[in-house]
Amino acid sequence: MRTELLEPRLCFSDLKPPQADFRSEVIEGLRRPQKTLSPKFFYDPEGCRLFEAICDLPEYYLTRTEIAILTEHADSIAQTLGRGGTLIELGSGNSRKVRLLLEALKPDVYMPVDIAGQHLLAASRELAVDHPWLNIHAACLDYSQRFELPVLPEGQRKTVFFPGSSIGNFEPVEAENLLRGIARCVQPDGGLLIGFDLKKDTAVLQAAYNDSAGVTAQFNLNLLRCINAGAAANFDLGRFRHHAFFNEPKGRIEMHLRSESHQRVVVADETFEFLDGESIHTENSYKYGIEEFRTLARHAGFEPGRCWRDRNGLFCVHYFGV
Ligand code: AVJ
Repeated sequence: MRTELLEPRLCFSDLKPPQADFRSEVIEGLRRPQKTLSPKFFYDPEGCRLFEAICDLPEYYLTRTEIAILTEHADSIAQTLGRGGTLIELGSGNSRKVRLLLEALKPDVYMPVDIAGQHLLAASRELAVDHPWLNIHAACLDYSQRFELPVLPEGQRKTVFFPGSSIGNFEPVEAENLLRGIARCVQPDGGLLIGFDLKKDTAVLQAAYNDSAGVTAQFNLNLLRCINAGAAANFDLGRFRHHAFFNEPKGRIEMHLRSESHQRVVVADETFEFLDGESIHTENSYKYGIEEFRTLARHAGFEPGRCWRDRNGLFCVHYFGV
């Protein structure tokens, strides 16, 4: 592990998997009958920028709604979580959401965890400037794989903050495994504050992933640019098209990139053939009912605590204890 002390109260640990793992994961996904690329590859600097633009779209209610919930209920959330201790945030991105809780929670240590290193570092620096009392230990790692967090001070209560419905990217079995790992990490007296997107009218869901400005389409296509750069590939972005829909039986939004012609693409010396209309599955975004999610969390070893929702029942922020 490479850990650097950047400022007296800001530490950065680089635990990102090597480039070779990136390539082999890309190739493994493209060899499957339904070609697949993991959504974690979206987040190069351009992908981070596009995702932030998505969060501001009128159709994309998720971020706006979760921010409203956190803002409105910061005090009761802080009461539920307790003050002090270590707050670990998975997929912290620009750390915009945790800012809404920091003053109420006053954690001793904040550990933002994200796969996008540059973005994570910039966000942590800004946070350090704005909260000089806060100890920040940032960890760049891929939390979708088995992971180990940098060592934390002994005897401190740990709470994991996992907002943004990022849990929706995981297959339910994998979500359960991830939550089980989190439960183990926050033992014996910690908890989990998690934001997840609720099941709702299909038209509302589909609009959120098919915005009229086409930003989600750009975000989806940018994945191919990430693969070109990171896995020596030659995808032609002009020959794929964004496709997103709600898969009702599976309870998830699916995003795909559809080949617009019969074509061949080289990825790290291996050639892949695409039929006209054949797709690469690039993301799942699972939507849950509250009870459904509680059941999943119970199976992972959590006890449901309080939850906070918006008036329209679009989104849920839920606390779980161990
Ligand atoms: C970051 C996984 C929560 O699934 O809504 C937004 C990503 N993809 N628009 C989501 C995303 C297309 C987002 N998550």
